[in-house]
Amino acid sequence: MKNKLQRIREDFLKQLAEIKDPNFLHELEIKYLSRKGELSELMGGLKDLSVDLKKEVGELANSVKKELQEKFNEASKALNNFSGKNNVVDVTLPGTKLERGHLNPITLVQNELEDIFTSLGFMILDGPELESDYYNFTALNVAPNHPARDMQDTFYVDLKNKDGQYDLLMRTQTSPVQVRAMQKYGAPLKALIPGRCFRNEATDARHEHTFYQVEGMLIGKNINFANLKSFLEIVGQKLFGPSTKLRMRPKFFPFVEPGNNGEYTCFLCQGKGCRVCKNTGWLEIVGAGLIHPDVLRAGGIDPEIYSGLAFGFGLNRLAMLKYNINDVRLFNSGDLKFLEQF
Ligand code: PHE
Repeated sequence: MKNKLQRIREDFLKQLAEIKDPNFLHELEIKYLSRKGELSELMGGLKDLSVDLKKEVGELANSVKKELQEKFNEASKALNNFSGKNNVVDVTLPGTKLERGHLNPITLVQNELEDIFTSLGFMILDGPELESDYYNFTALNVAPNHPARDMQDTFYVDLKNKDGQYDLLMRTQTSPVQVRAMQKYGAPLKALIPGRCFRNEATDARHEHTFYQVEGMLIGKNINFANLKSFLEIVGQKLFGPSTKLRMRPKFFPFVEPGNNGEYTCFLCQGKGCRVCKNTGWLEIVGAGLIHPDVLRAGGIDPEIYSGLAFGFGLNRLAMLKYNINDVRLFNSGDLKFLEQF
C-alpha cells in the first residue's frame, strides 16, 4: 500500500507539471483528489489493515493528500493568473488615451525661425551657457570697466576656469557665439544661434532672469547696411506676413557699427495701432547692425577683406506676441495648465 501511495504521488506530480491548460486541471482533480478519486479509494482500504499499520499508512496517506492538494492549488492559481478570468481583454472597451507631450511655445517659435534660416542657407549653432567674460564681453568690444557692461546685469560665477582665474559668468546674450563661430569656421559664414541666456533681473511680467535669444550672423565680402536692411525685411515678412514693413532706428550695441533697433509693423493691426503695439503701430523686435571690425578681428577675420551683419531676437518676446502671452514668467513656470494649450 505504501508503494501504491508513492506511485499515486509521483504520477500526480508528473501530470500536474505538464498541464498548460486550466481545463485539464479539473480532470486531474477528479482522477486523484475527488471523493471517488484514487487517493480516497486507497484510503478506503485502510480499514482492512492491522492497528499499527493502519496508523502508519494512515498518517502517510494524509500527508500525501495534503501535499498534493497544496500543489494542485498552487498550480491552478498560477494557471488562472496567466490565462484565466483576470486576464480577459474586452475588445469593445475604448482604449486608454496616451497623453501627448507639448512643445514649449519658445521651442515652437525657435523651430519656426530655424526653418526660415535653414531655407536661407544658414547653419544652426550652439554655444556654452556658462561662458567666459572674454567671449561674453571683451571679444565683443566691451572692455573691462567699460560702462556698456552696465547695460546687462550679469550673474558672475564663483568658479575658477581651467587657468585658475575667476572669469566665468552665465552668458547674458547669444552674441559670444558669433566670435566662437568665426574662430571655428572662418569666413564666409552664415549662422543662426538659438540659446538660453541669463541676467540678474528683478522679475516681473516683462522681465525674467532666464530667457531665450536667437542670434543671426552673415559674413562675406561687401556685406553692407543695405544688405542688413533687406535681410531684416525678409525675416519680418517670413515671421509676420508679406505686408510687414521694417523701420530701423539707431541704437548703441558695442559689437556692431552702426547699430540699430529693427521694428516691424504690428502683425495684429497692420500699423494702425492696437493693444499689442501699445497704439504705436510698431513692434520693437530685433537688435542689429554691421559687425564691428574689432569683433571680426577677435574672431580671426580680416575686416579689410570681409564684413558682416548680425542681429538678435528675444525669443520670449516673439512667443508672447505670437501666442498672446501676458507674463514672461509663465515660460519657466512648469505650469501644465499653461503648457497644455500649445
Ligand atoms: N546681443 C544683443 C542684446 O542682447 C542683441 C544684438 C545682437 C544686437 C546682435 C546687435 C547685434 O541686446
